[in-house]
Amino acid sequence: MSNRTFTMIKPDAFANGHSGAILDIILKAGFRLIALKMTHLTPEKAGEFYAVHRARPFYGELVEFMSRGPIIAAILEKENAVADFRKLIGATDPAKADKGTIRQLFAASLGENAIHGSDSDENAQVEGDFFFSFLERI
Ligand code: RTP
Ligand code: MG
Repeated sequence: MSNRTFTMIKPDAFANGHSGAILDIILKAGFRLIALKMTHLTPEKAGEFYAVHRARPFYGELVEFMSRGPIIAAILEKENAVADFRKLIGATDPAKADKGTIRQLFAASLGENAIHGSDSDENAQVEGDFFFSFLERI
């Protein structure tokens, strides 16, 4: 099991000024920052990142949303990082997210849900590589 995961603070949370509060929760939960950057995805790059959802009815909406404004991307380290981080962010639909989770606190809807978290060690590696060069993620 790898001890790294990948996250993005999505355009809704960034635009609403929640980035600082979200990073604070992440760090206080014991995750260490390995790499961090602010960027703005083009529709092409957002589509590539979420390519696994290409055939889903919400794909167009998701690509539009994820390229709407700046995001913060980060690689995080902690024991059991992937599972622990998914627990910290809560269910995809904020209405179903446990109390105190990042999505319950900061997300408005299923489509615009404040934060991304990798769903496997393999995807954590692929997603970290998508945003960060080798030297940036040592
Ligand atoms: P993420 O990949 O962003 O961490 O989210 P997740 O694993 O909890 O959920 P996933 O199934 O991978 O869906 C990716 C993102 O697509 C948007 N979505 N919209 N309108 C809809 O029915 C719908 N369903 C999913 C959300 O932004 C979700 O996080
Ligand atoms: Mg996912």
